[in-house]
Amino acid sequence: MSKSACVGTRALVTGASSGIGSALARELAKLGVDLVLTARRREALAAVATTCNGVNVEVIVADLGEHDAAHSLWAAATASGPIDILINNAGFGYFRRFDEVDWTRDAELIQLNMTSLVALARCFVDAHKTTNTPAYMVNIASTGAYQSVPNMALYAASKAFVRNFSEALHDEHSGTPLSVTCICPGGTDTAFHSASGGGDYSWIANASTRSAEFVAQSAIQAMLQGNRTVVPGFFNKLTCFGVRFLSRSLASRVTTYVLGKPTLALPVRTEG
Ligand SMILES: NC(=O)c1ccc[n+]([C@@H]2O[C@H](COP(=O)([O-])OP(=O)(O)OC[C@H]3O[C@@H](n4cnc5c(N)ncnc54)[C@H](OP(=O)(O)O)[C@@H]3O)[C@@H](O)[C@H]2O)c1
Repeated sequence: MSKSACVGTRALVTGASSGIGSALARELAKLGVDLVLTARRREALAAVATTCNGVNVEVIVADLGEHDAAHSLWAAATASGPIDILINNAGFGYFRRFDEVDWTRDAELIQLNMTSLVALARCFVDAHKTTNTPAYMVNIASTGAYQSVPNMALYAASKAFVRNFSEALHDEHSGTPLSVTCICPGGTDTAFHSASGGGDYSWIANASTRSAEFVAQSAIQAMLQGNRTVVPGFFNKLTCFGVRFLSRSLASRVTTYVLGKPTLALPVRTEG
């Protein structure tokens, strides 16, 4: 899709109340894309909506950590028109050993980062099966998708899932108007880190951290170009490329060093 062809199309952005999702919403608004913004916090969504100038913005509160919330969200989002762009961005992780976190949090992570993402992807693909208009799905994974990550075991595994799933969908839809792009950000300056209980990162992790705006601009450019997978930022690209020359156990140890030790208290779950 050319930039001018975006005007008047409609995008559903999950996790739009902060960080990368809010930056993605603003980038889409600059292209004239009408928005359906979703997350759990209504006030934060409303605040983001006021920064998306010149387009129609609808806000839908949904907890995608809950079973079947994705289908209700899709029904609500499509009630007032079709969705041309799906941005599967909502996600969380925690920086802790696997056995130090409640199982209920793990179950929520699996639901949000994978199950709800797949459910929305399926709704989107089904909706575009018989249409000939351009459709774009963008799934946010992570550089954590490129190797196992001790102290973020389940999170990194969920992002490896998102990457493999997205790349397979991209190939399945090659030559069709439906394009699927996977974005693998490295460390990005958002609320993710305080929410994860992380923060005592090595100088390498701190030096490679990018802004949410940078990641969002890379993501939208990649989407418009119909790219398969994009790792925003030169250093992140280099590490994701370089990891293929290490044994998997060495890559895992290097990542443990780069991320440092979990030191911050694990915050209580944010309610909607
Ligand atoms: N920051 C990084 O370093 C980094 C690196 C690689 C990948 N990522 C990925 O980028 C994506 C965006 O994260 P971010 O960095 O922008 O962090 P963030 O600022 O914490 O944003 C996370 C978003 O997800 C939403 N969310 C969380 N739990 C939810 C739930 N149960 N139901 C619905 N929405 C929920 C949050 O909104 P509410 O709290 O209002 O629900 C928020 O809008 C995530 O998928 C993350 O894994 C981040």
